[in-house]
Amino acid sequence: MQKRELLYEGKAKRVFLTDDKDLVISEFKDDLTAFNGEKRSSAVGKGALNNKISTELFKLLEKNGIKTHFVKMLDDKHMLHTRVDVILIEVIVRNIATGSLTRNLGIEDGRVLPFTLVEFDYKDDDLGDPKLNDQHCLILELVEHQDELDKLRRMARQVNDVLKPYFENIGLNLVDFKLEFGKDSQGNIILVDEISPDNCRFWDIKSGEKMDKDRFRQGLGGLKVAYEEVLNRILGKV
Ligand code: C5P
Repeated sequence: MQKRELLYEGKAKRVFLTDDKDLVISEFKDDLTAFNGEKRSSAVGKGALNNKISTELFKLLEKNGIKTHFVKMLDDKHMLHTRVDVILIEVIVRNIATGSLTRNLGIEDGRVLPFTLVEFDYKDDDLGDPKLNDQHCLILELVEHQDELDKLRRMARQVNDVLKPYFENIGLNLVDFKLEFGKDSQGNIILVDEISPDNCRFWDIKSGEKMDKDRFRQGLGGLKVAYEEVLNRILGKV
């Protein structure tokens, strides 16, 4: 499958058309951004690590009956996937309080939440990705019906039900993560984007060490080593 015209360039990926109108190719970039693009850097090989991690996690979710856009990994930096209309809602799933939840609501950092929290953020960089409630989503016409919001929440919880125990088994706490969804050409809602340490927080269960993009956000260093460790654990190499 050959890359054709550039369809879209985001902060972490470029998406290219292919000869098949229903399929596109994502190229995972090495660029790193945080705080809505205010902090920027890059790490050679980061894109390939995220492509490989996402590939394994999409396969795992598909095996567990969750529909995703994943078709196959083409090479280190490229993934073939279904073309969708992206739903402009970032679905945030939280098991442990940290990050913006702690900042916004004063909840103690590291507190295990009494139940899994699912939140919606508006995928709009100009507005700084503000929080949305269901009525905002409907007024903005980000979805057609309340049913679709219920489906996003349901699917997000299903993803968490698969990934949380999976990561516990390889010594990582899945603290929180961001999911994106889209509609395929038949109108089905499927999971899209990537699932990687760029958009998940992983804390090592034994040491508490952060194994995700917070290493870059917080200037801790060692980002690539951490991402490699996550991939190696997924591949059963440690
Ligand atoms: O910053 P915050 O605490 O809201 O992030 C929650 C989770 O969502 C984190 O895992 C973070 O990596 C992810 N996230 C993301 N992209 C955003 C906002 C949050 O991947 N634009």
